[in-house]
Amino acid sequence: MTPDIRPFDAALGAEVLGVDLSKALDDETFAAIENAWNEHSVLLFREQSIDEARHLAFSRRFGELETHVLDQYLHPEHPEILIVSNVMDGDRHVGIYDAGRYWHTDLSYMAAPSRGSLLYAIEVPHGEDGEPLGDTLFASTSAAYDALSGSMKGRIADLRAEFSLANRHAKLVADGDADAELEDRHHEKAPPVTHPIARTHPVTGRKSIYVNEGQTARILGLPGDEARDLLEALCAHCARPEFVYRHKWRVGDLLMWDNIPTQHLAVRDYALPRRRYLHRTTLKGAPPR
Ligand code: SIN
Repeated sequence: MTPDIRPFDAALGAEVLGVDLSKALDDETFAAIENAWNEHSVLLFREQSIDEARHLAFSRRFGELETHVLDQYLHPEHPEILIVSNVMDGDRHVGIYDAGRYWHTDLSYMAAPSRGSLLYAIEVPHGEDGEPLGDTLFASTSAAYDALSGSMKGRIADLRAEFSLANRHAKLVADGDADAELEDRHHEKAPPVTHPIARTHPVTGRKSIYVNEGQTARILGLPGDEARDLLEALCAHCARPEFVYRHKWRVGDLLMWDNIPTQHLAVRDYALPRRRYLHRTTLKGAPPR
């Protein structure tokens, strides 16, 4: 297999053609995919048919996997798979139904946030017109960083921000959108952490903006109003249309993204009985620098 990498007409992302993820990949094919991932940040593989074991095996080629802190949404037989879904079993959500409710990067509230995620679509909701619903938007935070003025780059160079799972949960509660309280075990596994807000990619060396709407509680070292205004301005800047790719899901899509130079948002324009059901693996990462 020689993968054919076709960049999207966007600030990030590419489709990978000519790869069947249901089969083990040789080292050369894998290296081409890994290089493309570092270059384009988001990769799409269409028309895949993979079971949990193949999803896990492909994901593990990139590194160790996380067992997500929100353990109530883990696949019962494969705890390294997070179920992303609006499907209910009685009055229980079978998966995390609000995973992308706000712009975020996965696990930015952990001391060592995730390096990347691989999301595989098993059921996709559609509207009356047959168009898919529940799109996911990806923003290139490295393109957003590059577009900052020199003085803004200087201003944020040494700043840090606090990130927390509790902050994300408080936003969901305020928006009337949380189905349960966080438990003590969630708080213990994910206490608030701080990270630099201008982050350098360990492979490409590119800088990116590392704050997000959902999980960044506050920027540190500035007066309250100034810190809040800067956080809002940086989040709004990252979400500008010229930095964004919008993914329309099809069953059988595997989409993988680099959590360092991107953030993403899931569009909530569907509800039961329209079902959305996906499996996500989450790669471990290192503390941001
Ligand atoms: C996620 O944030 O990992 C899930 C995104 C989605 O549901 O599209």
